Parts: sequence; C-alpha cells; structure tokens
Amino acid sequence: MTQSLTLPRPDDWHLHLRDGDTLRAVLPHTARQFARAIVMPNLKPPVTTVDAAHAYRERILAALPPGARFVPLMACYLCDATPPDEVRRGFSEGVFTAVKLYPAGATTHSEYGVTALDKVAGVLETMQEIGMPLLIHGESTDPAVDVFDREATFIEQTLKPLLARFPRLKVVLEHITTEQAADLVSRDSSGRLAATITPQHLMFNRNAMFTGGIRPHFYCLPVLKRERHRLALRRAATSGSPAFFLGTDSAPHDRTAKEAACGCAGIFSAPNALEAYLTVFDEEGALDRFAAFASENGSRFYGLPLNEGTVTLRRERHRVAESIPLPDGKAIHPFLAGEELGWKLA
Ligand code: DOR
Ligand code: ZN
Repeated sequence: MTQSLTLPRPDDWHLHLRDGDTLRAVLPHTARQFARAIVMPNLKPPVTTVDAAHAYRERILAALPPGARFVPLMACYLCDATPPDEVRRGFSEGVFTAVKLYPAGATTHSEYGVTALDKVAGVLETMQEIGMPLLIHGESTDPAVDVFDREATFIEQTLKPLLARFPRLKVVLEHITTEQAADLVSRDSSGRLAATITPQHLMFNRNAMFTGGIRPHFYCLPVLKRERHRLALRRAATSGSPAFFLGTDSAPHDRTAKEAACGCAGIFSAPNALEAYLTVFDEEGALDRFAAFASENGSRFYGLPLNEGTVTLRRERHRVAESIPLPDGKAIHPFLAGEELGWKLA
C-alpha cells in the first residue's frame, strides 16, 4: 500500500476568503496547503473594479502568516453594468485572472449579479477576444425550478446557449454537482470548457443534510445531490480528463449564521481540503491521477506556470478539529469536524 504521496504544490481554483478578522483566521489554512487560489469576489460590497481587486489582494497579502508563500488570484464580480474596458484593463494589468458570473439571487451576496446574459454580452465578447476565463455559478434562479434541478436547468437554458454564442470563450463551470454537468464537460473536445469539483460533493450525497435531523453544516450551494450524481462526479474527477480540477469552494460562516432559522449556505473545508480530496482518490484507486487534478489541470487551463516545490501527504490517521476559533469569540464549524481522516499533510 502506498504510504506517502508527493506532488507539485497544488492550487485551489475556487475559494472564499472574506475580509477582516475572518480573512486573517481562515487564510493560513489555505496558504499551508495551496500555492495559489482564485479568490471569490462576493464581498459586501462586491469586488467589481480593478481598484477594489487590487486593494483586496493587498489585504490578503498583508493577512498572510510570516514566511508564507501564497499568491491570491483575483476574480472580477460581473454586474449588468460592468464596463468591458474595466475587465480588459484588469486582465492586462494582471490584477484580474478571471470574471465571476453569479446569476442575480443564486447564492450568498449574489444580489448584484447578472440578470440577463444580453446585458453582459459586450464583456463576454471582450473576454473571448483576450482569452480571459469566465467562472460560472451555474444555477437557475427561477423560483419555479426545484432546488435540486437548478444546475441541470441552468445547463439547458443558459449555459448551452452561452457556449454556442461565444464559441471561443473559456468557461469554468464551478463546483459541479450533477451527472449532467460532468457529462457536458467530459464530452467537450475544444479544451475551452472545464469544471471545478468540491470535496463535499465528492464525499456526500443529499442524505447527509438530513441524517437524524437537519444538519446545516452540510448545506451549501449548489446543494448536495442524490447518490447517482456523487458517483458521476467521482468518476469525472478521477478520470484523468484535464477538464476537471480542484476547487474547494471553502466558504466560512460563523456557526451561529449556519445554525439559524435561515442558515447561510457554505462549507468551510479549507483546513483539511487536500487530505479530503486525497481520501476520495485513494478510495477510487486513483492515487496516480491526484497530481493532475490538484496541481496540473487548473494551471494548464488558466495558462499559468506549474508551481515550484512540492507537498507530501502521508497515510496517517488523525482527527479533524471540532471548531476553528474566530478572534471575536465566534467560531467556524469545519467540514468533517471531529471525523477521522486517513491522510495527513506532512
Ligand atoms: O455554499 C456556498 N457558499 N455557495 C456559494 O455559491 C457561495 C458561498 C458563500 O459565499 O458563502
Ligand atoms: Zn463559491
């Protein structure tokens, strides 16, 4: 049995870091494992301009523990009114790595998101021309659509028309949760369509939200789906296809915001993300494909150099922390809190 695995330093291609005290509390967990991360722009107010992204990047760098080597890659929050030139300038100046499309109302802090694709056609034309990736939260916001069908409906009603209208636009379908999404991305042969997959969608199906009672710490968006979908995601992630890569969607909310009458969506997986993903690859007999998923496919898709240096994980049982403290006396309940993992980052 393989006892340790060394891979090039990995990247997290979808991450929420928040700001202020929370940023300072959560960032070390990511910087310990990952060389770079695409940082989501759904702050309040959202990161919609080059200046705002530049300032946020500086705050992230200032919040790093001494000696940490970590590069935040910034995403521009797309609004109906985003000027194409703002996006072009941010990309050419190396401030924006990508643009994030939230359908308005789809998730946490998405109220400034896009209400209709026509409104952002000019931005998408520009991005297609300059080779800038569009990162999509792929869920229909039609209240008539069942919450478990929102991704599949978005694919049919919005994503397929978008891909046809912008045939050279680079697109990442974020945190995919369904076999429909996995199939669409697997079948694409152009190389311009990719997907990130979270650890929770690989490890759990929707029953986890209701085991013995309602479990708010398993609630995220897109919501966990049925077992058939989880198995399709595991096949996709471990298939060796370069179109699938690691993106945790780690999304910290303090526990009182989740354990509430109307609890927030988001799972904080940053502390043990790499170990959780590796557990899945091990269970699937795909340890030899882990480096591609975690350290190579994303870089290649984004056209960025592979990281220098390595990380090593060892087969060693250890328990995940029950709680991650925040400076104001609050705390975050992490993914897999109190559970045992069989791999440990050295
Ligand atoms: O579960 C989620 N949490 N999904 C998202 O799309 C947003 C995120 C957050 O920011 O909390
Ligand atoms: Zn997210």
